[in-house]
Amino acid sequence: MAIREIRLRDDEILRKKCKEVKKFDEKLWILLDDMYDTMNKAEGVGLAAPQVGIMKRAVVIDIGEGRIELINPEIVEISGEQTGNEGCLSFPGLYGEVTRPNYAKVKAQDRNGKWFIVEGEALLARALLHEYDHLEGHVFTEKVTKYVD
Ligand code: NI
Repeated sequence: MAIREIRLRDDEILRKKCKEVKKFDEKLWILLDDMYDTMNKAEGVGLAAPQVGIMKRAVVIDIGEGRIELINPEIVEISGEQTGNEGCLSFPGLYGEVTRPNYAKVKAQDRNGKWFIVEGEALLARALLHEYDHLEGHVFTEKVTKYVD
C-alpha cells in the first residue's frame, strides 16, 4: 500500500469525466487500498480516483462507519434536502455551505465486480453525492453558496 499524491484545486484532471472500470483485477485493488490509506492519512471521509490522478469511476468512503468502495456507481434515487458545511481533500482548508439531497440510494459494483446497493442519509448521502460528482468532473466549489471560516 502507498500514499498517493492528491490533485489540488485547479488541476484539470479534477474537471474531466472518468471512465468506466472494466477490469476488476489486482491493479484496481491496489488503487482502492492506496486511495483508502491516502484518504485516512489526510483525515478525509471520501476520495475519488481522479483526486489521485486516475480517471476511473472508483470511490472510497468512510464516514466513521466502515469502508465503502464504489466502482461504477449510479445514483438510483435521491430525496429531501440538507444544507451544511462541506470540504474536499483537493481543496485543503476550504469549507463552504452546500445544499444537497438528504437521502441517496446508489447502485455500484464492489472490487470483484458484484453489484450492490448502498443508501444513506445526512452525511453519508452528502459523501456519496460529493464523490459521485468527482467522477463526473465536478467539484464542490461549483455548489458552494457561502464560504465559511
Ligand atoms: Ni472531494
